[in-house]
Amino acid sequence: MPRGKFITFEGGEGSGKSTQASHLVSFLGGQGIETVLTREPGGVPFAEQLREIILAKKPASPNTEFLLFAAARCEHIAGLIEPVLSLGQWVVCDRYIDSTRVYQGRLAGIEPELIATVERHTVGAVYPDLTFILDVNPRIGVARAQARGELSRYDSASDAEHMTVRQGFLDIAAAEPMRCVVVDGSEDENEIARQIASVVDRRMLQQG
Ligand code: TYD
Repeated sequence: MPRGKFITFEGGEGSGKSTQASHLVSFLGGQGIETVLTREPGGVPFAEQLREIILAKKPASPNTEFLLFAAARCEHIAGLIEPVLSLGQWVVCDRYIDSTRVYQGRLAGIEPELIATVERHTVGAVYPDLTFILDVNPRIGVARAQARGELSRYDSASDAEHMTVRQGFLDIAAAEPMRCVVVDGSEDENEIARQIASVVDRRMLQQG
């Protein structure tokens, strides 16, 4: 049984990544590929409990937050991502390692060496096969998130912090062009879904 593919979605607030992750799962279903949709932090009960703690209140030390995200990821990989991929099913995940690199690394100031070391130990071999970075002007993204009443505590961030997040994701995409595909998140929802499906089709389905 061939191992399943692992696809992640990344981007700033209101970039539309959760919506597009769902579209991709529907597309894959239509191709006869069993796919599990999940998210970080969360995905399994233990990690969902950590999510509630992490997102409720900013801890005094950025290290606390960083390590809790890592702990939640360990549980998610062990309890869901790895077993599902081993079964030959695909996993689509809303946020993963790049969110840690950007939010904890760029915004919260955790040293890049520590981020990289913990990432290696946390993730092991479970790196995404493909990552879509939904890129949108933070003004549009935050307005969208506000309109949906879905402001996470990061939405109180300043314009400069939102720009740092945006640039952080774009820098990762530039550094890892084989893994990352940047998609213009300001386009029409269905058009973006079509673009994403076409990348997956070309890169993963036609090659079997
Ligand atoms: P969520 O409500 O899922 O935000 P969004 O709808 O934008 O995905 O909250 C997740 C928040 O957690 C988000 O603001 C980014 C942050 N985050 C990190 O800081 N580090 C991480 O490793 C992950 C996975 C998320």
